[in-house]
Amino acid sequence: MRQTPVYYYSSASGLVRSFAERLERPVLDLSRREVRQSEADGPWVLLTPSYKTGNEANDTIPEAVRRFLRSPVNRRRLVGVIGSGNRNFGRYYQHAARDVAARSGRPVLFEFEIAGTPWDVEECRRVLADLDAALAARGGADGAGGAPAA
Ligand SMILES: Cc1cc2nc3c(=O)[nH]c(=O)nc-3n(C[C@H](O)[C@H](O)[C@H](O)COP(=O)(O)O)c2cc1C
Repeated sequence: MRQTPVYYYSSASGLVRSFAERLERPVLDLSRREVRQSEADGPWVLLTPSYKTGNEANDTIPEAVRRFLRSPVNRRRLVGVIGSGNRNFGRYYQHAARDVAARSGRPVLFEFEIAGTPWDVEECRRVLADLDAALAARGGADGAGGAPAA
């Protein structure tokens, strides 16, 4: 069964990267130029932190994520979003993940705080395994048409 790849962005502190690397599936780093300029070859999941900049007009989506989502192919093949955030940011908690999900009509699959707990990693692996199974049952390689019912 195909393992849906996770494309992630992580800053220098690397909290999201360490989470991504514990998922036991293909993960791709959007801070690498060749990754953010590529096209996903099928359904993929976004894992993004939120970064509030202090500028009210500016939102919380990392630039590398924005860049990857400029591709219509990538937007079409996106099937779900995972967010990392920090509740100290109040109404901006998970703002980037929720914003991408709302704009794309794809579900938020999982949210965790900061680096995530071991339980978060386990739970996220389970959610992604369920997604793999749902996509396999749906069939078709393109990943068009949004998220599976599961
Ligand atoms: C400058 C800054 C701004 C942040 N803004 C938000 C925010 O608006 N909403 C949120 O939920 N978390 C926010 N966070 C928390 C990060 O999203 C969270 O710590 C994430 O795990 C960082 O991942 P990374 O270390 O891989 O970049 C912010 C963190 C920093 C340092």
